[in-house]
Amino acid sequence: MSYTARDYGNLVGIEGFSETLLKNHFTLYQGYVANTNRLLDSLASMLKEGKVGTPEYAELKRRLGFEFNGMRLHEYYFENLGGKGAIDKSGRLGKKLAEDFGNYEDWERDFKGTGTMRGIGWTILYQDNVTGKLINQWINEHETGHLAGGIPILVLDVFEHAFMIDYGLKRADYIEAFFKNINWDKVESRLK
Ligand SMILES: [Fe+2]
Repeated sequence: MSYTARDYGNLVGIEGFSETLLKNHFTLYQGYVANTNRLLDSLASMLKEGKVGTPEYAELKRRLGFEFNGMRLHEYYFENLGGKGAIDKSGRLGKKLAEDFGNYEDWERDFKGTGTMRGIGWTILYQDNVTGKLINQWINEHETGHLAGGIPILVLDVFEHAFMIDYGLKRADYIEAFFKNINWDKVESRLK
């Protein structure tokens, strides 16, 4: 079984994201899907050929965390875009954010602050699957820093390719545009 790239063409036209930016981003995402498939095929062949235990096998195994998460995180990201309007603070997610962060505004400040940290990667609002607690987390590149078993609730891409075409170095402005387009219904549906 191989992975198929999903189509997010429906996002073209959302406010604050140019068509050029989005189309480049879709192409990049498709590359992660292709590379995930390629890596999984190579690893399966190496297993059959008795190459487990070789340095080549080890390096490909390490690489899988980068390509697979690069694929899956883009899917979470594109799927939590396309909405209009603010969060319903009296909804299930709104109440839970206020409960875990003291109030909604503190959650938003923490999430945006995490998103503007220096470096490339992702900002993810995670739900701890054991306790249900909500935690904002920074991910280095695609694979470092994930919370084991955690459920990604809201996913923000802060690699430069996600915003530079439209915003240059103004990452905070991009994050504001991202917030205007969050599909909060989708985000809330991910809560356990
Ligand atoms: Fe990206």
